[in-house]
Amino acid sequence: MFAKALIPFLSLALIVRAAPSHKSDCGNGHLASNSQCCVWYDVLDDIQTNLFDGGECGEEAHESLRLTFHDAIGFSPALFREGKFGQVLHGGGADGSIMAFPIETTFKASAGLDEIVGEQKPFALKHNVSFGDFIQFAGAVGVSNCRGGPRLQFLAGRSNHSQVSPDGLIPLPEDPVDKILARMADAGFSPAEVVDLLASHTVAAQDHVDPTIHGSPFDSTPSDFDAQFFVETLLKGVAFPGNGSNVGEVLSPYPGEMRLQSDAAIARDPRTACEWQSFIANQELMVRKFEKVMAKMAVLGQDPRKLIDCSEVIPVPKPAASQVAHLPAGKNLKDIQVSCKHIPFPTIKADPGPETSIPVVPAS
Ligand code: HEM
Ligand SMILES: *[C@@H]1O[C@H](CO)[C@@H](O)[C@H](O)[C@H]1NC(C)=O
Ligand SMILES: *[C@@H]1O[C@H](CO)[C@@H](O)[C@H](O)[C@H]1NC(C)=O
Ligand SMILES: *[C@@H]1O[C@H](CO)[C@@H](O)[C@H](O)[C@H]1NC(C)=O
Repeated sequence: MFAKALIPFLSLALIVRAAPSHKSDCGNGHLASNSQCCVWYDVLDDIQTNLFDGGECGEEAHESLRLTFHDAIGFSPALFREGKFGQVLHGGGADGSIMAFPIETTFKASAGLDEIVGEQKPFALKHNVSFGDFIQFAGAVGVSNCRGGPRLQFLAGRSNHSQVSPDGLIPLPEDPVDKILARMADAGFSPAEVVDLLASHTVAAQDHVDPTIHGSPFDSTPSDFDAQFFVETLLKGVAFPGNGSNVGEVLSPYPGEMRLQSDAAIARDPRTACEWQSFIANQELMVRKFEKVMAKMAVLGQDPRKLIDCSEVIPVPKPAASQVAHLPAGKNLKDIQVSCKHIPFPTIKADPGPETSIPVVPAS
């Protein structure tokens, strides 16, 4: 009687103790919770060495992050309702179409992305993974190389079948805020979530808004996933970093830094200014919200219940240098164009030292 009554407890204990052995041995030095995640360890090792120059937060990482957006945002319930784009329920989205159909990189908003697509594609083919999965994976790995970066969710199993996106779905830097927010709302993002997504511009530079100044970054620390972008975009604009005013460009706060018209306007718009300001003294909040909104973006047009969670493959990023952004050298609080009306501007310090002081170094 006594022994019999114990059996359920014993077997329960056995199940609990046995749990770790449910991991699959990938045979490449890794254990995975699902054997379908194994291939991603091979992809990880390969791209860290051969695409990201040994795990750097450099140009390839930046472009890979940008590519996750340009693939995923080719998704429009509004066009679907008009019968113009989409399959079954929605169609498009994070489906790899930007890699499958070269025409997508000829769209104005995707200028320059043909390069990273060309660099990534051989890895996707070599490891026989779908283009949609590969693009989201490379973006997640790339941004994990940035100090203070997010550890993005990665779900695998997107079909390799994709649908070419029509032109006009990707926001341009010269678009007015109304147009950007409407386009993003169509894809399912609130104004605050648009701000959350723009944390990406903290590890970013431009090549095509002003082609005369390749690699000019959007903040002074383009290899750090820090909050500098959110404070620097609020500084009064004083000059153009390159050859005068270009389409989509506005005055930037100092030489070497590029400011997009869209970033400047979203930073100051009453619908988005408070979310923008909220990250200046809270890098951790910025990362948490970015992780959340990226998880949403990465499955646009996909059924997440059919995907497998392989997030464990994504590396753990190095911690941020600071939780609180600082004022760049030579600037003070009077240079900030405070735009959130109902929350006081956070306390921030002046530039802590020469290591992070301007002039900025080009990103690439
Ligand atoms: C409001 C919408 C957005 C607009 C108008 C916009 C516009 C731009 C522009 C014009 C560039 C410069 C490209 C070049 O000249 O080489 C850029 C770069 C970049 N964007 Fe965005 N962007 C937006 C949203 C996003 C989102 C949602 C992400 C990712 C989640 C993203 C990630 C990046 C990254 C990482 C770069 C830097 C690429 C590099 O350094 O090579 N952007 N963006
Ligand atoms: C995905 O589709 C492309 C063509 O668009 C093809 O070249 C590639 O081999 C496919 N990959 C897989 C894993 O099926
Ligand atoms: C590549 O992937 C496709 C689709 O998942 C599969 O049908 C094919 O057998 C794979 N090819 C190789 C060489 O593993
Ligand atoms: C700046 O732009 C003007 C007008 O397009 C052009 O004539 C000039 O050569 C450019 N200067 C540089 C330094 O690229």
